[in-house]
Amino acid sequence: DWTMEAYREQAIQQIRDKVGDKRVICALSGGVDSSVAAALIHEAVGDQLTCVFVDHGLLRLNEAQEVVGMFRDHMNLQVIHAQEQELFLGKLEGVSDPETKRKIIGGLFIDVFQKYADGIEGAEFLAQGTLYPDVIESVSFSGGPSVTIKSHHNVGGLPEKMGLKLVEPLRELFKDEVRALGRELGLPDSFIGRHPFPGPGLAIRCPGEISREKLEILRKADAVYIDQIRKHGLYDEIWQAFVAILPVRTVGVMGDGRTYDYACALRAVTSVDGMTADYYPFSHDFLGETATRIINEVKGINRVTYDVTSKPPGTIEWE
Ligand code: XMP
Repeated sequence: DWTMEAYREQAIQQIRDKVGDKRVICALSGGVDSSVAAALIHEAVGDQLTCVFVDHGLLRLNEAQEVVGMFRDHMNLQVIHAQEQELFLGKLEGVSDPETKRKIIGGLFIDVFQKYADGIEGAEFLAQGTLYPDVIESVSFSGGPSVTIKSHHNVGGLPEKMGLKLVEPLRELFKDEVRALGRELGLPDSFIGRHPFPGPGLAIRCPGEISREKLEILRKADAVYIDQIRKHGLYDEIWQAFVAILPVRTVGVMGDGRTYDYACALRAVTSVDGMTADYYPFSHDFLGETATRIINEVKGINRVTYDVTSKPPGTIEWE
């Protein structure tokens, strides 16, 4: 009968048979899928795997250090930390349209990944954390009418462009099976239970034009918010939570002075698969306490709102 341990052994054997003594590259995002795929492939072929972590400057507070640190130091993977913040933020300067922002980030991501991959001698395989639902979705969507709400950031099309063969060891698994496999491979629970984080990162939580100043404020506010959620024991009950910094400044009063700072919106939803979602019913105490903390601890924000839109009609992210 089927056990995760047996699956793991079988998957490792299949990876070894397929890859032989060739090199594999993998775009590590810090998300559960690419992390588990990388850990599994590393177990199968060790240092024949090189991961590239593209740092687009749109990550959360300390995120790059945490992800790279864990894979490099704790799990002993070879990880290239591609520090390309200047490139991405430079190209995004003055851009406010959501789809244009997404396309710029997606296009640069592929260019950057390709640049680093070209530097890895003899790479023949590209690893991807494709899951079973992704496989089904791409089949059932082809041919039928479809409306694109948001262009998605992924590395589809990359293997052909780069002349690489795909390794997709999670193709038969559902999300909870991927989590179980990740635990089996020794990834920490805190990592496996992480909320989803979108490829375009904080760019789509900063509606309109991005600036370094706004990103800085957003990172701090988001960290306080997530800390509050963890302290109240709500992290695992919520499917995804984040702060969006609004493109508007409002007047406030602090001490005996007038303030004129950014407003932000807190977002938290429950969901099964992200396709539909309900806003999370926080208590008024929680919301009040969180607003006070953010305003006291984050310079640049003087107003906090809570987004009570479900999906549909809203989307989870703001752009
Ligand atoms: P929306 O905002 O469309 O988001 O309701 C649904 C889920 O998808 C995530 N998301 C993305 N994930 N690349 C990703 O990898 C993207 O371009 C992207 N856009 C949205 C979002 O965070 C939520 O979990």
